[in-house]
Amino acid sequence: MSRLVIVSNRVSVPSGKGIVKAGGLAVALKEALEARGGLWFGWSGEVADGPLPLPHKVSRGGITYVTTDLSRQDFEEFYNGFSNSTLWPLFHYRLGLVEVSRRSYQGYLRVNAAFATTLAPMIEPDDTIWVHDYHLLPLGEELRKRGIANRMGFFLHTPFPVPEIMLALPGHHRLMQALCSYDLVGFQTEDDVRAFLDYLSGESDGEVGLGGHFGAFGRQSVAAAYPIGIDAAAFAAAAVTAATRSESRRLSESLRGRKLVIGADRLDYSKGLLERFEAIERLLEQHPKLKAKFEFLQVAAPSREEVARYRALKRQLESAAGRINGRFAEFDWQPIRYLNRSLDRATLAGFYRQASVGLVTPLRDGMNLVAKEYVAAQDPENPGVLVLSRFAGAARELITAVIVNPYDLDEVADGLARALAMPLDERRRRWRAMMDVVERNTVEVWRDTFLADLAEAAEVEEEVELLSGEGAAYCPLPAVVQPVSATRLRHTSPR
Ligand code: F6P
Repeated sequence: MSRLVIVSNRVSVPSGKGIVKAGGLAVALKEALEARGGLWFGWSGEVADGPLPLPHKVSRGGITYVTTDLSRQDFEEFYNGFSNSTLWPLFHYRLGLVEVSRRSYQGYLRVNAAFATTLAPMIEPDDTIWVHDYHLLPLGEELRKRGIANRMGFFLHTPFPVPEIMLALPGHHRLMQALCSYDLVGFQTEDDVRAFLDYLSGESDGEVGLGGHFGAFGRQSVAAAYPIGIDAAAFAAAAVTAATRSESRRLSESLRGRKLVIGADRLDYSKGLLERFEAIERLLEQHPKLKAKFEFLQVAAPSREEVARYRALKRQLESAAGRINGRFAEFDWQPIRYLNRSLDRATLAGFYRQASVGLVTPLRDGMNLVAKEYVAAQDPENPGVLVLSRFAGAARELITAVIVNPYDLDEVADGLARALAMPLDERRRRWRAMMDVVERNTVEVWRDTFLADLAEAAEVEEEVELLSGEGAAYCPLPAVVQPVSATRLRHTSPR
């Protein structure tokens, strides 16, 4: 098997922490790297104020981790700027928040080119390269320019917006062209695949065939959906263990028999936190009998604090939590417990297990693994209820959650009231169906399916015959419950 090269903005360099602490995605990628031998390349997370030091290199368990610092200017223009103030809001359908700046766009292209220059000499001829996420859309093309002809795949962890949104991005053509340099372009959901192919057929010279095959900008490639999962067994086991630990006990005692509703997110406007707080307020307005019957714990991990919009959201959340608590609290109860810090995943697993309701209401989300973790953490005998935004990728799979429109506060409040009152047999039925999906479609399945399809995509690329005329319409792949191997649906002509 060929060596694997993973490229992502953040690199999970080993720190001696356990599986659950490291996060399922990092563990799954590491396992693949260990099995095949390989390299993980990306940003070190450090910003160098002086001259850039040489890349940092660490080797552990057959994996080489190479990370590079960013200069202050690159950090501002590439990370805070184009990645997180332009692409992030755009990909999350928040046109009003998109900042357009030629400087940050140039910085984004510059960092991608610099990453390619550093990485290219480390690539061996048979390596399989797997690039991750919106920070690195042009990386593949930059590697190709440097003579790297290896099989190369890309996976987008965020949503991919419909063409009408994408067109608002100056330079969209250039970035979409760059995406076509990969042999396989993976997305979280079929909706994302469709949006991407719609762009290619409507806004470029692209032709789209069956099974996600496309030809555009002079290249042929494949796009398919690979809904990411979690290590369900490990997370469920962690939840059982954590439930006996002191944090879980303290939480349980502090609730004094009241039901727990939990939310846990990065502090990000895409997560719909402000709307979530307002839905709690609406719930209390419309169902006054629920007063003092539950508490809502929101864990909001600080994120991207150098970006003004994130700082503004932090202030808005503090103010909303204070206002709602001030309005409804009793001297011995308050509706919202708001933590503006991160908790480790093991502690969260125990908290999820205790929570009667998991409240996951992003305004838009690529997948949302908290939804899957909440499901995995439940006690099968007495499971809680997931209230899930229809705009999370996870809603395509977890169809027996209580699905809500996060913009509609009344609907979220009703969903919460329903979840809090749901009888045990209905809770079990809904949970079992979700757990089947979470157990079947794990992060390992996601990784292995993507890599198997990438191996095949690169091999048969020249064989692909694009259909024309009527047959050229994009043919959606089957349901996302089990990732579909795009290659199985491929139409090729004989050599
Ligand atoms: O897909 C979104 C993502 O890049 C995740 O991969 C990551 O967990 C998250 O955002 C964190 O963002 P940042 O790297 O900006 O802290």
